[in-house]
Amino acid sequence: NQLEMELEAIEKGGYEHFMLKEINEQPRSIADCMRGRLDANNGRLVLGGLRDYMNKFQNADRIIITACGTSWHAGLVAEYLFEEFARIPVEVEYASEFRYRNPVINEKDFVIAISQSGETADTLAAIELAKSKGATIFGVCNVVGSSIARATHAGSYTHAGPEIGVASTKAFTAQISVLTMMALKLGYQRGTLSENRYMQLLSELETIPSKVERALQLNDKIKEIAAEFKDSRNFLYLGRGYNFPVALEGALKLKEISYIHAEGYPAAEMKHGPIALIDEEMPVVFIATKDSSYEKVVSNIQEVKARKGKIIAVVTEGDTSVKHMADYVIEIPETEEAFVPLISVVPLQQLSYHIAVMRGCNVDQPRNLAKSVTVE
Ligand code: AGP
Repeated sequence: NQLEMELEAIEKGGYEHFMLKEINEQPRSIADCMRGRLDANNGRLVLGGLRDYMNKFQNADRIIITACGTSWHAGLVAEYLFEEFARIPVEVEYASEFRYRNPVINEKDFVIAISQSGETADTLAAIELAKSKGATIFGVCNVVGSSIARATHAGSYTHAGPEIGVASTKAFTAQISVLTMMALKLGYQRGTLSENRYMQLLSELETIPSKVERALQLNDKIKEIAAEFKDSRNFLYLGRGYNFPVALEGALKLKEISYIHAEGYPAAEMKHGPIALIDEEMPVVFIATKDSSYEKVVSNIQEVKARKGKIIAVVTEGDTSVKHMADYVIEIPETEEAFVPLISVVPLQQLSYHIAVMRGCNVDQPRNLAKSVTVE
């Protein structure tokens, strides 16, 4: 047992928990995911698994993405990416609903299944169903040789390395990295992305690991925010556009490891119900980076402020307007709007981590949860 404990300490690489180690590994895991695939200087982007299926992908009538939990959130980000860059309609489906709904699928559909473990029972069943209807199935998995990796026609591994913490962190950013590369490649091949724009996006994508590294340095500030809100009973997470899935992911991270009730919403939906929850006891995390929906999010922040909600805002470095409204601001490096989730999720992972630790929760192995859900 002593030996086991020592081994575990070594595996944690000096960190107190696997989750913290995995959060901090993200600059490297994202770089690993892009290594050998992306070479912006030479305008090269190669995804080996995609090569034989590029024709099918390019000519698909529709892309269906299926997954569960955090992987489903990565799928939502991909919906925005594929529609923006490649102009192919996308549907994102919870695997558990998809498999039992008698969905309309055919040979012209390109199905992407996302799974860290590659063992999620619902996702596997959704794949088998889509396969039986003749669709092409592409896997985005982390675990090499896993059941889902084997059940798909082709795929791209995320190369994030083993993820031990039950709360998915580095696997999420690696999934988004793969999906981003897929969307850029597809857009370029279909001609929906100009050569210039494509090259510009490739160069920016290469800067993401160093920007994530910078975002990680906000850890101490986030710890202070965590101390302030650790006893809250509820949290609301709001974002729009590419940051809407990030809001969902931030809320999921908090509930699964700290057992605080949290909900993520597209910020504009607030006025259709959740706004009733807001009072001085309610912390609201806004992801309000400088992008096409910034002004709209700012007005949502004002609505919360007017009702005395406590505002924690993730903003772009140098932002001045939100500072006057928010109780706490977290400034992250600027990037292309489409790449923001890779950075904006990081402080939310840290926030949930610190809150959970301060509440004395078992961060790496939260109650009632398993790392891979192999039952339905
Ligand atoms: C994420 O933090 C969760 N533990 C969970 O939602 C997870 O993402 C989900 O079970 C899907 O797992 P998979 O990626 O291994 O298929």
